[in-house]
Amino acid sequence: MLKRLAFPLLQKLDPERAHRLTIQALSLGLGGSRTEEEDPLLATELWGCRFSNPLCIAAGFDKNAQAIAPLLSLGFGFVEVGSITPYPQPGNPRPRVFRLTEDEAVINRYGFNSDGMEAAARRLRRYRARGASGLVGINLGKNKESADAARDYALGAQKLAPYADYLVINVSSPNTPGLRALQGRQELERIVALVRAALPEDGPPLLLKIAPDQAEADLEDISAAALEGRLDGLIISNTTIQRPEGLRDAARNENGGLSGRPLRPLSTAVLKRVYRLTQGRVPLIGVGGIACSADAYEKLRAGASLLQLYTALVFQGPALVTRIKTELADHLRRDGFTRLSDAVGIDVPISG
Ligand SMILES: Cc1cc2nc3c(=O)[nH]c(=O)nc-3n(C[C@H](O)[C@H](O)[C@H](O)COP(=O)(O)O)c2cc1C
Repeated sequence: MLKRLAFPLLQKLDPERAHRLTIQALSLGLGGSRTEEEDPLLATELWGCRFSNPLCIAAGFDKNAQAIAPLLSLGFGFVEVGSITPYPQPGNPRPRVFRLTEDEAVINRYGFNSDGMEAAARRLRRYRARGASGLVGINLGKNKESADAARDYALGAQKLAPYADYLVINVSSPNTPGLRALQGRQELERIVALVRAALPEDGPPLLLKIAPDQAEADLEDISAAALEGRLDGLIISNTTIQRPEGLRDAARNENGGLSGRPLRPLSTAVLKRVYRLTQGRVPLIGVGGIACSADAYEKLRAGASLLQLYTALVFQGPALVTRIKTELADHLRRDGFTRLSDAVGIDVPISG
């Protein structure tokens, strides 16, 4: 139903309202259920988890863990929920999300509107209690008024680790004052140390999500932390505060993070840079502007072991997921790959 009837209508509504209705419809089971077989060529294994396909709905879509199973039913190989802050908070005043239809982009300045970790934990517990085995990443944010960011991430990690197949420290949203400054070396070391201390020995893998606007020195520090084993993977990238040349939509000058098609070259360049800095030894999740199978394939070849998308779903609807998967398998077969992981980073020469 969502695919055929509701999607064209949702596109006409105010974007935040459309999003809320979509989450409600999905959580009521109106998204339908998947029937097609998964192509074995798309399977991949990381951190001891088997992903039936590499495609994930990016953080920000299911901020409060309300639609995990229905999103998996749309065909995603895994779901990343969040960002979840320790305590509930409303986020920024509305309007705070804008479709740039002419550019197939979105600008958002939600500012971590979140039901908080207790509500998320309740929903995740219910999801796991049903014996669900679908893979779930949990993305952690900090409360706007919190004076100690590291403590916030540690609180979230401790509370939500039992339900997570991986955890993400998100220090790259442009919409919480001071957040992105946490990507600098000293701050980051303290956050990662505190989060690690809050996790059990056998806790889930710990990932960091970074901005596409990062200085080279920061990318080097972050890559070093990953190579030293303090981080188990990186997500590249969040939205950008840049406004690339050529944006046409009247909403282009709204404040916030830009996602979608115009973000793709920027985020793929950072992905390649970090793949090279980490010598292909650290799992990377590629996200930013994936809108078709060619984009997905490009991210794999640029160094991503797994893929995420959000904005293209706003413009193309849920049929996009199956389309990308089918065509991605075709790309891999055409180029002679027998395993998805063999294509990862193939376009990035690693010297030395
Ligand atoms: C409306 C909206 C809200 C988002 N909220 C979050 C968030 O809470 N946490 C986060 O890590 N990323 C968030 N993102 C960023 C996405 O996860 C993703 O990194 C970015 O949109 C680039 O992917 P895309 O071009 O496929 O949308 C949000 C993106 C959008 C469009």
